[in-house]
Amino acid sequence: MRFLPDDLEVQAGEGETILEIAARAGIVLRGACGGDGTCGRCLVLLKNGAVRDRDGDVIAEPGTALRACRSYPVGDPVIEIPQTSRLAEHQVLTGEGEDGLLGAGASDTGAADDPLLARVRLSLTPPEPGGIPDDWGRLQAALAGRTGQPVNADLAVLCDLPAVLRAEAGAVTVDLGLESGPGAKVVTVRAGHTAAPAYGVAIDLGTTTVVVELVELEQGRTVGTLGTYNRQAAYGDDVISRIIYAAERPGGRRQLQEAVLDTVNSLIGELGRRHGISPEEIRVAVCAGNPTMTHLFLGVDPAFIRLEPYTPAANFWPLCRAGELGLFLHPRAPVHVLPGVASYLGGDITGGVTVSGFGAGGEVTLFVDIGTNGEMVLGDGDWLVGCACSAGPAFEGSGLSSGMRASEGAIEQVGISAGGFEVVYRTIGGGPPVGICGSGLIAALAGLTRAGVIDRAGRFVPGLETPRWRRTAAGEEFVLAWGRETGHHQDIVLTGADIQNLLRAKAAIYAGVRSMLAAVGLEQDQVARILIAGGFGRFLPLRDAVAIGMLPDVPRQRYAYVGNASLQGARAALLSRRRLAMIEDTARKLTYLELGEGTGFMEEFTSALFIPHTDLSLFSSAREEGAYADRGGR
Ligand code: FES
Repeated sequence: MRFLPDDLEVQAGEGETILEIAARAGIVLRGACGGDGTCGRCLVLLKNGAVRDRDGDVIAEPGTALRACRSYPVGDPVIEIPQTSRLAEHQVLTGEGEDGLLGAGASDTGAADDPLLARVRLSLTPPEPGGIPDDWGRLQAALAGRTGQPVNADLAVLCDLPAVLRAEAGAVTVDLGLESGPGAKVVTVRAGHTAAPAYGVAIDLGTTTVVVELVELEQGRTVGTLGTYNRQAAYGDDVISRIIYAAERPGGRRQLQEAVLDTVNSLIGELGRRHGISPEEIRVAVCAGNPTMTHLFLGVDPAFIRLEPYTPAANFWPLCRAGELGLFLHPRAPVHVLPGVASYLGGDITGGVTVSGFGAGGEVTLFVDIGTNGEMVLGDGDWLVGCACSAGPAFEGSGLSSGMRASEGAIEQVGISAGGFEVVYRTIGGGPPVGICGSGLIAALAGLTRAGVIDRAGRFVPGLETPRWRRTAAGEEFVLAWGRETGHHQDIVLTGADIQNLLRAKAAIYAGVRSMLAAVGLEQDQVARILIAGGFGRFLPLRDAVAIGMLPDVPRQRYAYVGNASLQGARAALLSRRRLAMIEDTARKLTYLELGEGTGFMEEFTSALFIPHTDLSLFSSAREEGAYADRGGR
C-alpha cells in the first residue's frame, strides 16, 4: 500500500491495521485512545483502492475518511494522512539551564567525578615463565591494580584477547563498566592506546517525549542533546492505554518496546551523525523513566501496574547490555535504569529529586512533576514521602475539543477582558492558532474566572453578553479564537465539558499535595521550596496555576523551575557512581503514599474541584490579587 503525501510504499503484514502499518513506516499517527476506535484522532483518507473495516465490510469510495486503527488494507490502497492526524514535532525540553517562567533551581548534575564507564590505558608486560599463566589473568590483575576493585568479563571479551594483547606489544585500552557498588566489568579491549574520548548517553524515557543527551565521559561535556515525541504515542496517549494495549493485543508489548527503541535509536543515530561519532563508540547508557515506560522499554510485562495492589515487576532493575535490548550502541555497552519506588513513581522522579537540590539545608521541599500523572515528593532530605495522582492527559491537550500538545500554532498564553469580550492570546511560533496547549488552558481557565465568564464551580455564568459564549447541541462553549483568525479556519473553543475536565486535572494535583502534607502533619505554609520539574513546568503560568487552585498559594519566590529533572538525574548518574548511589538511596528511603479510597484523597479532590478550592483561606494572596470573585460555586 502507499501513503501520501509522503509517497511511501509499504508492505502490509497479515492482520495489521493501517495505523500499525503507518507506524512501521515511521509515520506516527495520533492514536490517543490506543486504537480503541473512540478518539477519532487517527483519521486518514482513502484516495484509491479499498480497505475493510473490523466487520469485514469493504470500503472503496475515494475520499472516505477512515479511522486508521480500525481499517485494514485490501490489495494495495493509497491512503492520505492529513497533518492533523500526525503526531507533530513539539517543544521538547532537552536539559537544564533553559529560561522558564519561573526562576531556575539549583541542580547538582555536576561534572564527571567517577563516570559509570572508565577508559583505562595499560601497557602489559609479555607473559613470562613463572608469571601469571594466562592472558586474562594478566589483564585482570593489571586492571584490579589500577582500579582497586575486582574486575570480570564476559566470554565475548576473551575471544579475541590473545591477539589484541600482542598486536601493539601489550599496549591496550580497556573500557570498564562500573556500578554504584564495588566491582567492574570489561566492556571492550582494543589494541593500542587510543586518545579518543569515551562516550555515554543519558536517556529520558517520557510518556510523551524522549530525550537523549550524548556526553563525553572523561570531561563530563555534553556533546549534543536531542528530543522528539515517543513513537509509542501511536498506541495510546497515557500510560494506562499503553498498558492495556500491551496486555490485550497479540504482540502488543513487543510493538510498544520496538516503538520506544526506535525512538531512542533514531535520536542516537542523529546525534552520532551530527557530531561524527559512531554509535559503536557509545559505551554506556543510563535511562530514567516512569515505571510503565521503564517496563515497556525493557520488554517487561506492565499489566500489574494498573491492577490492585499495583505491583511493578521490579523497582531496582538488573544491569543489561545494549545488544540484548536492541539499543543502537556498542552491543556490550551496559544499560543502567534508574530505580523506582512504586508502580507510579519511577526513576525519573528518584533521579530528579536527588539532583534537583531537594531538601538543601534541611528545608522542607516539595518536588512536583506535572504530566499525565502528577508525581510529587515532599521531604527535607532525611525523610521523603511521594505520591502520584492521575491528572489525565488534559494538560497535554488530549481529550479536549481544541486541545493540542505544545507545538507550533498552540495557544500558550491567554488574556480575557471583563465580561469575555476581548481575548488576546499568544501562540507557539507566533503564527495563526490551531489549538490550545496546557499552559494556555491554565491561563484560559484563570482568565475566564477573573473575567467573570465562569463561576467557581467552572460553570458559565448565566446571561453572558458576549458573542463568544454560545450554546450548541453539545452544550455551552466559549470561543477563544474565531475561525477567521485560526490556521484551520475553525473556531477554537473551550466547552463546559473541557472546563470540567481541566478542573479534575488541577484538582488531582492539588489534592495530591494536600494529601501528602496531611500525611506528615504539615501545612502548605511550612513548605520552604517548591521545585517544578518537567517540560510542562517550563511554560507554566505560575500566577494562573495558583489562581485556579492547582498549586499552593505561597510566596512566589519559594517556587523554582528545575528543568528536565529526569534527564538531569540520568546524566548525573552517568557521570558519577556516587550520584547513582545517592539516587538508589533516595529510592530506598522514599515512602510511597497510595492515594486511594480511605486515604482522604477523595475528600481533598472534591474540595479542589472548585476554583480555587472550597476553602478560600488556602488561597488568600490569589484572592487579594482579584483572581476570582466570591460568588458562584461554594
Ligand atoms: S480512534 Fe483510532 S486511535 Fe483512537
